Amino acid sequence: MYLTRLFLDDPPQREWPFTLPPVAQLAADGLELPRPVTFLVGENGSGKSTLVEAVADLCGISSEGGKAGTRYSSTGARTPLGQALRGEFTSAGLKLLTGPRSRRAGFFLRAETLFNLAQNVSGRYGFWDADLTEQSHGEGLMTVLDAMVTRPGLYLMDEPEAALSFTSCLNLIAQMDRLARAGAQIICATHSPVLTALPGAQILELGEHGIRPSSWEELPLTDHFRRYLTKPDLYLRRILNN
Ligand SMILES: Nc1ncnc2c1ncn2[C@@H]1O[C@H](COP(=O)(O)OP(=O)(O)O)[C@@H](O)[C@H]1O
Ligand SMILES: [Mg+2]
Repeated sequence: MYLTRLFLDDPPQREWPFTLPPVAQLAADGLELPRPVTFLVGENGSGKSTLVEAVADLCGISSEGGKAGTRYSSTGARTPLGQALRGEFTSAGLKLLTGPRSRRAGFFLRAETLFNLAQNVSGRYGFWDADLTEQSHGEGLMTVLDAMVTRPGLYLMDEPEAALSFTSCLNLIAQMDRLARAGAQIICATHSPVLTALPGAQILELGEHGIRPSSWEELPLTDHFRRYLTKPDLYLRRILNN
């Protein structure tokens, strides 16, 4: 474990992102992270990416995606929530913030920016050998996972399933589980009923209510997928004009 609690120092502000219900709740109550794996779920626009990016900022990992202790953007600016966010760290977590840059074990996997990142770090030592421009989106993501998400560290992910097949998602769960058992911590925003089924993970549901703990069985996303796969008609009848 690296990061055990999130909180905000300053009184809540009136503009975005402090107006998002999950951020308002974080400001009011803080957020405990007791498990090695945390999944953030919720509808589009609920604030998952906003939170993961801010955690990246807090931990010295580029919020554009990439390795701990490295910034790739020209500005290197922190997100508004990243500036206000504070954390309670374990001793391993403090090393992640202050240890030698090359040894910091942290990575933010963002599908959206993976190819920009790949171009920026192409050929640099400590990344990956394959040329991602010659791989499919999913293959590229797996290359990065296999190269960067290996030893115990703090790993942030934003919808890693977007590019992955069912089988690759299962491989990713196995990798998450292996790492968690070896002392890593993973915070992952996702819509995947496959990933969120990982036993022992903390599931936080973001929405109009704020942030609430949930379980795989009671997640709306699990229920929707289960019902859709059983009887697609029931959904399609309502949304298709025929
Ligand atoms: N830079 C920004 N300024 C203002 N609003 C933003 C900004 N970035 C995102 N938002 C809004 O904040 C909300 C949460 O966004 P996001 O965290 O990306 O949602 P999610 O990842 O859960 O789909 C959305 O309504 C989005 O439009
Ligand atoms: Mg998002």
